[in-house]
Amino acid sequence: MQIHHTIESLRAARASAGKAALVPTMGNLHEGHITLMRQAGERADCVIASIFVNRLQFGPREDFDSYPRTLAADCEKLEAAGVAHVFAPNETVMYPEPQSYHVDPAPAQISILEGEFRPGHFRGVATVVLKLLNIVQPDIALFGKKDYQQLMVLSNMVRQLGIPVEVLPGETVRAADGLALSSRNGYLSAEERSEAPRLHRQLARIADAVRGGDHDFLKLETDAMAELAAHGWQPDYIAVRRRADLQPPIHCSDPLVVLGAAKLGRTRLIDNLEV
Ligand code: PAF
Repeated sequence: MQIHHTIESLRAARASAGKAALVPTMGNLHEGHITLMRQAGERADCVIASIFVNRLQFGPREDFDSYPRTLAADCEKLEAAGVAHVFAPNETVMYPEPQSYHVDPAPAQISILEGEFRPGHFRGVATVVLKLLNIVQPDIALFGKKDYQQLMVLSNMVRQLGIPVEVLPGETVRAADGLALSSRNGYLSAEERSEAPRLHRQLARIADAVRGGDHDFLKLETDAMAELAAHGWQPDYIAVRRRADLQPPIHCSDPLVVLGAAKLGRTRLIDNLEV
């Protein structure tokens, strides 16, 4: 496995890589990322993982400075997963000058859910992902469904801007107790870690109720928020939405997803379940 810190080195390797799959990450890799790497390996001749903690997608009071940077351990995991190339640029390589050109996703997609609570987040994500796609020029790019809205924003960006890459979703990987794997789980204390699966349990309860014919979404959402708050969480949202555009459902036949975000102590967790 080769590790590239510059665009030139990565591009030289890419030239002979055949069909390439890119898995963009911010590092601190867990089994969810590794599953994406394996999925990528089944679809391409060569898997390229990028590791870059992207300042542009963090708000001023978010965890950019404390986000775990674990390059050596990440590279061991990537090598074991059969990844051929790691692109690990520093900030000077990715942003040699202040980034003044950005991708602005459609307001309807970023004023809701995560976008409402993390202003500017998806602009930062879309900008860095477009830049990574331009640098690597992969045939395929994989993104996990755990960040459901991110996957939607990026799929729409690729389609609307005619970027020649196929976007593939990866299923969320969960711990045995249901907690979705996330780099931010590492922030949880032991007590918070045992409380954390409640978010998934609430989403699962709503998904079961909807499958069973309960369409009082507002009550389901409000009850779940109250249940989380009663156990010390600060919920941002619990929402039943259409999978296609994450807007509130209109027809009973709309394929749905239930999404949630809530803070437990200082850790903000997100999760979702397709209904
Ligand atoms: O999902 C992530 O880890 C990041 O948002 C991504 C897609 C690597 C962009 O920085």
